[in-house]
Amino acid sequence: MTETTSPQFLSAAPAAREAEKPLHVVVIVGSNREGRFGPIVAEWLLARVRERPDLSVDVVDLAEVDLPTSLSFSPSAAVAAELAKVTPKLAAADAFIVLTPEYNHSYPASLKNVIDWHKAEWEAKPVAFVSYGGLSGGLRAVEHLRPVFAELHTVTIRDTVSFHNAGALFDDAGNHHDPTGPDAAAKTLLDQLSWWGWALRSAKAARPYGS
Ligand SMILES: Cc1cc2nc3c(=O)[nH]c(=O)nc-3n(C[C@H](O)[C@H](O)[C@H](O)COP(=O)(O)O)c2cc1C
Repeated sequence: MTETTSPQFLSAAPAAREAEKPLHVVVIVGSNREGRFGPIVAEWLLARVRERPDLSVDVVDLAEVDLPTSLSFSPSAAVAAELAKVTPKLAAADAFIVLTPEYNHSYPASLKNVIDWHKAEWEAKPVAFVSYGGLSGGLRAVEHLRPVFAELHTVTIRDTVSFHNAGALFDDAGNHHDPTGPDAAAKTLLDQLSWWGWALRSAKAARPYGS
């Protein structure tokens, strides 16, 4: 019997190769205030993401972007230059990790601003959260972000990493004093993000979202 290659097999081959590529994760550092603690947590998180062969990573640090709060369909050259620092990175992401502190029982305005400036860049992608703050560890910020990201057709990841009274948890070199629990939580989060990212990327390769 002569073996033939079915058309289904031929069309599945590029999709299979695509599915093997590392998932491209963009970490969004949400706080931008003077004297912020965010970079300590960001470095902790990035070290864990970089250990993973199934993930590649890029960073959007909102302290390095100056987007106005007034949205525009025809941004000035100055605003377009700021958007150019962010929009292509968000568009290239297969998945996001939003690093958020808690400000007044919610997330910072800098995050809402970058979210609202974009739309298609979020769509049909998974979003995980790492949070920090005082007593609540930023969890109220995370729960406020979930419905915002639902509106943007994302899938939010169930498990989070949260740092309660974050300032006391890390040494001067940025090492966590008791890393076992946070490391395990980070693994769970990254495993879930990786699964959803792989699932959504594979699905979109087979069929455009919403079609
Ligand atoms: C304006 C403001 C409001 C805050 N509100 C809360 C809060 O409601 N709950 C909480 O647990 N921590 C609160 N904090 C503490 C922050 O979560 C904590 O200082 C955190 O490190 C801030 O992140 P950042 O240093 O990266 O900006 C607040 C801090 C600021 C600056």
